[in-house]
Amino acid sequence: MLNFTYYTPTKVVFGKDTVSKVGELTKAAKATKVLLHYGSERVKKTGLLGEIEKQLDAEGIGYVELGGVVPNPRLSKVYEGIDLCRKEGVDFLLAVGGGSVIDSIKAIGYALADEEQGDVWDFYNYDRTPKACMPIGVVLTIAATGSEMSNSSVITKEEGGVKRGCNTDYARPVWAVMDPTLTMTLPEYQTSCGATDICMHTLERYFSLPGSMEITDSIAEALLRTVMKQAKILMKEPDNYEARAEIMWAGSLSHNGLTGCGSDGGDWACHRLDHELGGLYDVAHGAGLAAIWGTWARYVFDAKPERFAQLATNVLGVTPKETVEATALAGIEAMEQFFRDIKMPVNLRELGVNPTDEEYKLLAEKCFKTTGPLGSMKKLMTEDMEKIYRAAL
Ligand code: NZQ
Ligand code: ZN
Repeated sequence: MLNFTYYTPTKVVFGKDTVSKVGELTKAAKATKVLLHYGSERVKKTGLLGEIEKQLDAEGIGYVELGGVVPNPRLSKVYEGIDLCRKEGVDFLLAVGGGSVIDSIKAIGYALADEEQGDVWDFYNYDRTPKACMPIGVVLTIAATGSEMSNSSVITKEEGGVKRGCNTDYARPVWAVMDPTLTMTLPEYQTSCGATDICMHTLERYFSLPGSMEITDSIAEALLRTVMKQAKILMKEPDNYEARAEIMWAGSLSHNGLTGCGSDGGDWACHRLDHELGGLYDVAHGAGLAAIWGTWARYVFDAKPERFAQLATNVLGVTPKETVEATALAGIEAMEQFFRDIKMPVNLRELGVNPTDEEYKLLAEKCFKTTGPLGSMKKLMTEDMEKIYRAAL
């Protein structure tokens, strides 16, 4: 087991009717003026935003609103938020929504706490590192990215379709309110995208070359089994509270660092390959991951087939075959079958993407430019990335 630091400062308030705690949590954070950040008008129509505003009013806390965050959140909205918060003297940031809203508010938080007052994109372009972030609270409405506890924020710069992540512990929210009933209004597609993302956060960390980590593996395998089982239940019973709750908590645990303790940090190739797809074609993150995973797995599995075989037997119910390689390959097929079961794409065509020759090259070049050699199982160079994109069609 490798050395590690595990840091999860976020206070999680989980369960039915926990939205009623937002006022007191915001007060306890000593907020005087809050940015309420959200996506579409949905949160107004459902009454969620009104409920939050009522509580802030009751606590005597001022607020301003900024909606309009879209999936694959845009840099231009971040700039709008920064200007508004400076003008209004905001001192606490409250995200009401999913990963896109949370990531947008994290970027705003970095900028507001930036003593140099430089361009926030510098942090996503790896030119500077954030040294602080304004405190953030979250009311989560979709179980997916784990951004409510994670150190990560992913923003898309419209010019050039560049989607980049910035990871620092400053971005971890102070608190997150997680009521599983809020996720019952999700379209089936978004529920499945979320379940896929949760599995992938776990798998990216699971595929690590060095080290023995029985405890971390056991947590990861239990998490995967649970999410796969409950995601299939939600296909038939979208209002099943227990299934929603299991998946929501799994989402946070999958990306708060727990399933990476003792590993080399994981592989992350699929996430990087998908981020380029998100930047260029604006696809949903979870669906992009499902579309690429099987091809990536077949490309790298021979670097450590026993790891894929372990996934196959411990998580996917595969009976060991004659060789470890055959077991590994049967596991990859079983994982793809799970994606099909929850109506996720297993290739680019099913994702609705058919890149031109130029675009295959562009995707791989942009990916390499951002990360350099990619992955833990196998170090992927530009030509490997291009091969994976092409084979994923
Ligand atoms: O605009 P609203 O109304 O919120 O609609 C959203 C959006 O259209 C909708 N939705 C959310 N909750 C709902 C709902 N619809 C009905 N009922 C509800 N209760 O769902 C759509 C998708 O929302 P979004 O926030 O984009 O989804 P997600 O949470 O999957 O976030 C995806 C973004 O996060 C990034 C992804 O790359 C992508 O940009 N990631 C962030 C990470 C992080 N910060 O740690 C890690 C991830 O690996 C990921 O890269
Ligand atoms: Zn993800």
